[in-house]
Amino acid sequence: MRVLLLTDTHNELAIINELAFSERIDACIHCGDFGFYDGESPDRLTQRELQLRIRHSDLPRDLRKRSYEMGREQALEVIRTHKMLEGFVPYLSGQSRFSVPVYAVWGNHDDHQVIRKLINGTYQVPNLHLLHENNAPFLGNTRIALLGVGGNFYLEGDKLFASEYTGHGGTIRASWLQYARLIEQFKHLQQTQSPRATIFVSHVSPAKSEARLIERICLVLGIDLSVSGHMDPPICHAYSLFAICEPQEVVGRSQAAFETLCRRWEQERETSGLSAKEQAWIEDSLRALDIPDMAEPERGKRAPVGSFEDHYYKTQFINLADTPEGWAILEVEAEALTLHTRSRFPLRSV
Ligand SMILES: [Fe+2]
Repeated sequence: MRVLLLTDTHNELAIINELAFSERIDACIHCGDFGFYDGESPDRLTQRELQLRIRHSDLPRDLRKRSYEMGREQALEVIRTHKMLEGFVPYLSGQSRFSVPVYAVWGNHDDHQVIRKLINGTYQVPNLHLLHENNAPFLGNTRIALLGVGGNFYLEGDKLFASEYTGHGGTIRASWLQYARLIEQFKHLQQTQSPRATIFVSHVSPAKSEARLIERICLVLGIDLSVSGHMDPPICHAYSLFAICEPQEVVGRSQAAFETLCRRWEQERETSGLSAKEQAWIEDSLRALDIPDMAEPERGKRAPVGSFEDHYYKTQFINLADTPEGWAILEVEAEALTLHTRSRFPLRSV
């Protein structure tokens, strides 16, 4: 089975079927900033969000450069004239169809009201499967489970322990409760369905600042492959923690964020408004992530299978370049995953 890994299509969705054809793809995993907009989305977007969409478009340069000077009405007119947020509309109406199953999380730049309608079934798009904290589908007919949380993640603000993702004006952020629920989901999956492997799909890169809590989740759970987007790097980066840091550094990378998370939960638990079950998920997640520093492994000795040290070697991460600058192909075989990255980056002198 050949799986396309891509991200940040930002409404340019035709490339999914084009790559599915040219790369002989059987399924697709998308890391968000998909272009989840409907016909009414432009009216819901904030002025800033409209400006950003113009700024990062392929419209003529002078128009892009002027985007931050545009008022809301002017920006809306540009968006509508150039049909900039309409890429998903034909998939919603049934006029277009994804040629292969697409498993996707949403990004921080998607319309939360469209996400809501996709989750509650008001919108139905054949071959599109949204990944979120309440599901964990297998990839096609494989035994590989997919876990996912979309949106941005940061520790500031009053929505850290919201009961679900929160969105406003075209932006979406994840709540810690979603990650806590996902950890719970993973445990349940292991006990009941024994997946062969697990792929975690995140919009934000687990290697960056506060999102390193996601990196810690991947290592604690022993995720096989983490796929993410959002960063717009010039090439697709594939790495393991073993490749980029020393054993003694691994826990420290996320420790400050973890301590902030614990402190905030301590302060906000009583007023969070979460149910007893939801509070228990959060507390279980904090216990699961409260791990000691990793010791220097003994020379020539392998870490016990399934240990945190083992995951330090074996959990693989890939942060994708924005489409169409880069994507990756994952070949799924019975005993192994093979990763091919495709990146095109201009030379400095060009
Ligand atoms: Fe993003």
